[in-house]
Amino acid sequence: MATETKTKAIVEELIQDELKSKMPKYNEPSKGLKMEKLTLVDLPGVGAATAEKLESAGYHDLMSVAVSSVGELIEVTGVSEAVARKMINAARDSMKMGFETGMDILRRRELVTKLSTGSAAFDTLMGGGFESGAITECFGEFGSGKTQIGHLLTVNALKEDSTATTVYIDTENTFRPERIKQFAEAAGMDVEDVLSRIMVARAYNSDHQMLLAEKIEDLISKQGKNVRLLVVDSLTAHFRAEFIGRGTLAERQQKLNRHMHALAKVASAYNVCVYVTNQVMAKPDQFFGDPTTSIGGHIVAHASTFRIYLRKGKKGTRVAKLIDAPNLADGEACFEVLEGGIRDAN
Ligand code: GTP
Ligand code: MG
Repeated sequence: MATETKTKAIVEELIQDELKSKMPKYNEPSKGLKMEKLTLVDLPGVGAATAEKLESAGYHDLMSVAVSSVGELIEVTGVSEAVARKMINAARDSMKMGFETGMDILRRRELVTKLSTGSAAFDTLMGGGFESGAITECFGEFGSGKTQIGHLLTVNALKEDSTATTVYIDTENTFRPERIKQFAEAAGMDVEDVLSRIMVARAYNSDHQMLLAEKIEDLISKQGKNVRLLVVDSLTAHFRAEFIGRGTLAERQQKLNRHMHALAKVASAYNVCVYVTNQVMAKPDQFFGDPTTSIGGHIVAHASTFRIYLRKGKKGTRVAKLIDAPNLADGEACFEVLEGGIRDAN
């Protein structure tokens, strides 16, 4: 019996080692969040049936339980609040998600990569490029270049890492493989290879969009895809179209909040660069300054780590203004959209 347990432990360890060696470089969970060899059924109150419910709702590992909310777990499994709380706490304990020192965080920050836009001025504005492990929101009027940037970041992410995959959640039917082809050719890349590493999903409504975002974890943790970039273009269009009138605002914001949480989870748990686009609307009560404001209000603004306001400049140029960033100075960059990419405007 004792030998059997020992053999089992050795086999388990071999499997874990094997899994680890297959883990994509960029999608390793942050170093601070050390995984122990536990699975869902090791959590208190989780039997086979509950584990199955969790699995089918997209909770495949302790990480996903650790970062979920009590309400979410109750909804998914039907367990009591006390049990849900216990599950989350146990999952968190197993991951040592307590306090970290500043040094730990600095070390984790070293895993952050920056995705170049191709415009030196824009990259500088962003502190070297679009950050992994964070959500960057770009808002601006129609034709300001939000979708172009989404396409460009996609090609650049695939260029920087030949094993990378990117995900494009397209809500307005504006993903264009032809545009990807132009950018890829200008970058001297194999167009077919590039296109085959982009996973595009057309979201038909806000619920579908939310579901797609929640499925990304599967791509990474179950299918082992090395997802470097997630584009949601547009983040808010469906929400804006579906929830009309003041009475629906609270519900819309609640759903958007959940969606932003799912995106933030992908970004931070798997070090993915998340890029979302957002429209602006007129602010009728604004007499001075910019008379527009972004959709989604505080929920979207707050969940985004970086916020960029894009507008059309002189002579067909585009101006990107960094509105909100934790460690960068606010500023502006002026660039041009060209057939093969974007470059600094002179
Ligand atoms: P909405 O989605 O409508 O809110 O706009 P958006 O901000 O996503 O705009 P988008 O990124 O689609 O920008 C469209 C603009 O990019 C066009 O008006 C052109 O100025 C520019 N553009 C698109 N394709 C090309 C191209 O092949 N060459 C050049 N030079 N410019 C292009
Ligand atoms: Mg667009």
